Parts: sequence; structure tokens; C-alpha cells
Amino acid sequence: MTYPSVISSSNTKEVYPLPKELDRLRMPDHIAVIMDGNGRWAKAKGLPRTIGHTAGVEALKATLRLCSNWGIGALTVYAFSTENWSRPNEEVNFLMTLFESVLKRELSNLKLEEVKINFLGDLDPLPVSLKDLINESVKSTLNNKGIRFNICTNYGGRRELVLAAQKLAERSVKGELDPSLIDENVFASELFTASEVDPDLLIRTSGEKRISNFLLWQLAYAEIHVTDVFWPDFNADALTKALLDYQSRRRRFGGV
Ligand code: FPP
Repeated sequence: MTYPSVISSSNTKEVYPLPKELDRLRMPDHIAVIMDGNGRWAKAKGLPRTIGHTAGVEALKATLRLCSNWGIGALTVYAFSTENWSRPNEEVNFLMTLFESVLKRELSNLKLEEVKINFLGDLDPLPVSLKDLINESVKSTLNNKGIRFNICTNYGGRRELVLAAQKLAERSVKGELDPSLIDENVFASELFTASEVDPDLLIRTSGEKRISNFLLWQLAYAEIHVTDVFWPDFNADALTKALLDYQSRRRRFGGV
């Protein structure tokens, strides 16, 4: 079957079958994505960076649909990092407005498709109207049984670890937690990802070979796939290549 390069953003219920070259029994349960290259994609076309972000939303919708159709349990994406506030005000404001308008537009469809939405990060500094919509999206999809869609917004891996350490210290000071009982499970239970399994596969687009403060704890044993494709061009072919790369690896988790 040939897939459209970018699957239509129209809200069809079309189901995309798993490409024959992929082994259904060896799919990752959880994929994490650093969606990079929106700005360069736009620049290469002589367009403003903001158009790159708008095109990035379409790639994200297509990727979520494919992951859901192909039996992936969870998709976690890096939408806005704690470092992204240092971008020009105009771009930050554009992104905040974009998140809000996309969420507003897509929420009913995501609910119909049983997507379970979660936002990971320090949401406090976000605009109130966006926070309200985030709360509504998380609450109204809490019991959905489809793909878990985690959107990292004002997320930073180091900040997440510091916040977890603070919470554990507070519980210890209050006498609720014996510090000698803090193990990996107790620590992980204070992270934004407390209810989520660790990613099996990290995909980074646009050729950069960095983790960029993303899921520092959770990516400990993830396989990493870097593609030169800019995020707005990420499509079924690019996802298939990432999954083939993943399936070619022998995961040892530190063993032999
Ligand atoms: C990185 O590309 C991309 C971002 C910082 C924003 C990603 C956001 C989206 C794709 C929209 C997601 C929408 C929702 C509702 C979750 P870049 O700007 O760093 O590109 P560059 O490295 O080429 O400059």
C-alpha cells in the first residue's frame, strides 16, 4: 500500500495497515519523539518559521494516527522545552496560541479515537486559557483505552529530576518517607511520567544527535533513531524506517 507523504489532516477514520516489512510481534510499546527541524524546513522553503510549526502539527497528527493504527501503546512528544522560552516572544506566543487552537480543534476527534491525553511538564507558567484546555483534555480522556499521547510542554529533564528530589525530601522531612527506602521505583513515582512505561525507542528528526534535556531518566535503555528528515516531512516511510532500525537492534539492557 502506498501512504500519502503527509496523511490528510482531515479527520477521517481511515486505518493504515502495518507495512509488511515490520514484525508485528516486535513493535515498541512506547515511542518518544524530539520533533526537530520545523524552522529549517520553513527556511528552506523561504517561509517564516511559524509556518514550519503549523506544518509540524500535521506531521504530528499523522504520526499519532499511524502509531495508533500500528499498535503502539504510547507516543510521547517534545512540544516545548524549558529552554524554548528564550526564543523571540513572537515565536513563543505563536506556539502557545498554536497549542491552544490545535487542542480546541482536535479534542472531540481525539476523544472519538479513544486517545488518552496527558501533558508532562511544569504547566504553571502557561497561559491560563491553555492550562484550562489542558485540564479539560486530560480529565475528559482519562478513561480512554486507546493510544496514550503524552505532550511534553514546558518540560525539562533536569527540572523534572529536581522537582522529584524536592518532593521526596519534603516527604522525608515530614516523616512520611524513610530516605533509605528511596529506590528507583519510589523515585520514578515522583516524575511526570509516573503512570507511564519507559520509551523503547527515541526518534529525533533533523539530524541532530542530542537528547536536549528530554526524558533523561526514562530514556536510560531506549534505542535511538536519528533521521535527517525535518519534522514537517516526517511521514509513514520515515516512521517505518525508524521501526525497522529498532527491530534490527538486539536490546540487552546491560546484559550480554
Ligand atoms: C522544534 O523545531 C519544534 C518545536 C520547538 C515545536 C514543536 C511543536 C509542534 C510540532 C506543534 C505541536 C502541537 C501540539 C498541539 C502538541 P525548531 O523550531 O527547533 O526547528 P529548527 O531547529 O529547525 O529551528
